[in-house]
Amino acid sequence: MTADPQRWLWAVGAVVLWLVLIAVKVWRERRAAALVRARSEAMAGAGDGKPVLVAFASQTGFAEELAWMTARALLGDGGVGARVLSFADLDLETLKAADRALLIVSTTGEGDPPDNAARFVRKTMAAPGDLAGVRFGVLALGDRSYDQFCGFGHAVDGWLRRSGAEPLFDTVEVDNGEAGALRHWQHQLNQITGHVAVPDWTPPAYAPWRLVERTLVNPGSPGGEAWRLAFEPVDPVPDWSAGDIAEVGLPERDGVTPGSREYSIASLPSDGRVEFLIRLMRRPDGTPGLASGWLTQGLALGDRIGMRLRTNRSFHGPADATPMILIGNGTGLAGLRAHLKARTAAGGGAWLLFGERTQAHDAFFDAELQAWLASGVLRRLDRCFSRDAGDGRYVQDLVAAAADDLRDWIARGAAIYVCGSLEGMSQGVHAALEQALGADVVLTMLEDGRYRRDVY
Ligand SMILES: Cc1cc2nc3c(=O)[nH]c(=O)nc-3n(C[C@H](O)[C@H](O)[C@H](O)COP(=O)(O)OP(=O)(O)OC[C@H]3O[C@@H](n4cnc5c(N)ncnc54)[C@H](O)[C@@H]3O)c2cc1C
Ligand SMILES: Cc1cc2nc3c(=O)[nH]c(=O)nc-3n(C[C@H](O)[C@H](O)[C@H](O)COP(=O)(O)O)c2cc1C
Repeated sequence: MTADPQRWLWAVGAVVLWLVLIAVKVWRERRAAALVRARSEAMAGAGDGKPVLVAFASQTGFAEELAWMTARALLGDGGVGARVLSFADLDLETLKAADRALLIVSTTGEGDPPDNAARFVRKTMAAPGDLAGVRFGVLALGDRSYDQFCGFGHAVDGWLRRSGAEPLFDTVEVDNGEAGALRHWQHQLNQITGHVAVPDWTPPAYAPWRLVERTLVNPGSPGGEAWRLAFEPVDPVPDWSAGDIAEVGLPERDGVTPGSREYSIASLPSDGRVEFLIRLMRRPDGTPGLASGWLTQGLALGDRIGMRLRTNRSFHGPADATPMILIGNGTGLAGLRAHLKARTAAGGGAWLLFGERTQAHDAFFDAELQAWLASGVLRRLDRCFSRDAGDGRYVQDLVAAAADDLRDWIARGAAIYVCGSLEGMSQGVHAALEQALGADVVLTMLEDGRYRRDVY
């Protein structure tokens, strides 16, 4: 041990600084949660009569956004108060106490409920409840390209009906954010308020961003090309958090606007730019995917694109003092990288488990990961490469091999964040976590928001 008083002073200073940083972060998070609650309470109390309950089940933030827009429309146009609530905080009593409930629910996986609805599904939807006297409406978000279109929305609707609740109108299905369906929902809101108003629900306009950097990060890979792209805002840098998502608008083709594609943001506002890690997708006939082809091949440096950033609260990070276990594959490193960037070396640190194809060509962001290991942000880095002779493992195999240490980290309060492909990776990782930690622990962590996923 050193007796040098100056060193002691430095050490004490560092610890004090660390404690201050943690306190500031915890205070900020509590203040943000309190503001959301206060906003909801203010909207509940502002209208005439009993407020309408507006509950959202959301995986990537769209249903949550629409829940707030719904509440504003009820209050702003019709003077009807609305209480906005996540499905994570919803139970039978709360539903029963509401005369009218509007439920805005998305579907994820293959017809599955979003993670923030896991507890509600297990505890409340397991059997019909007594909801006689409650009137409800469901806005079901989905995408027709999936087999079970709006699967969870229909499950919620069926359960409410079996529980004796009375539908105000038939479930409104929204295919990929389709504007006509949203107008139909607004029409139903007008029936509730008794006012005819069509607030502008067109999503916020795309802001202009300029491509400033594009690098192939896996030359020679046996897998599809993966590109790192950086865009600078033409306007002042907007704010976002690690875990948020960018919606990139596709250019018009033959007079048709083909919509947008979502990408995990791999950088922070302090970088002054949005960075992505994008895989060039190929269709069965070998032609490039619409968005990934355009972004990685069609655009030139300096070109402008339209983009809007979407808050994805379900993938926001915990307090800096909470250790993070980051698990992912391929382009999933994008969302995990933003979290690594947001961590401080003095906080709870992170452990990254990452899988790709070959060590020689697919060790994305290696220099940066090594620097985080050296600085202490990364406490541990486990990587595997499925196509390498002598390895051949996938990231779920890393989870299985590290079961003892994972249990240790979880016992120390760590949170698990998974980002990358839905098929294969996230299901395999989920099964491996259940093996390592026990299915009950994994479920509790999911319900408590200590196990979060951004998978696609
Ligand atoms: C929340 C979220 C975050 C995402 N983050 C990223 C990211 O960080 N990096 C990234 O590269 N992509 C990410 N994606 C996927 C991205 O949005 C596009 O789906 C992808 O770039 C393909 O779009 P495309 O227009 O090029 O392909 P399309 O022209 O739409 O389709 C091309 C072909 O690819 C297939 N395909 C499309 N998407 C996938 C997929 N995800 N997995 C397997 N096959 C697919 C289609 O079936 C089709 O055959 C994310 C998706 C979501 C929902
Ligand atoms: C990984 C993934 C899986 C999905 N699975 C389904 C599905 O099975 N059925 C469906 O109708 N829509 C599915 N969707 C589409 C979403 O429900 C739709 O994009 C919705 O608007 C997302 O809302 P959210 O951001 O509130 O979660 C899926 C989307 C993603 C990204």
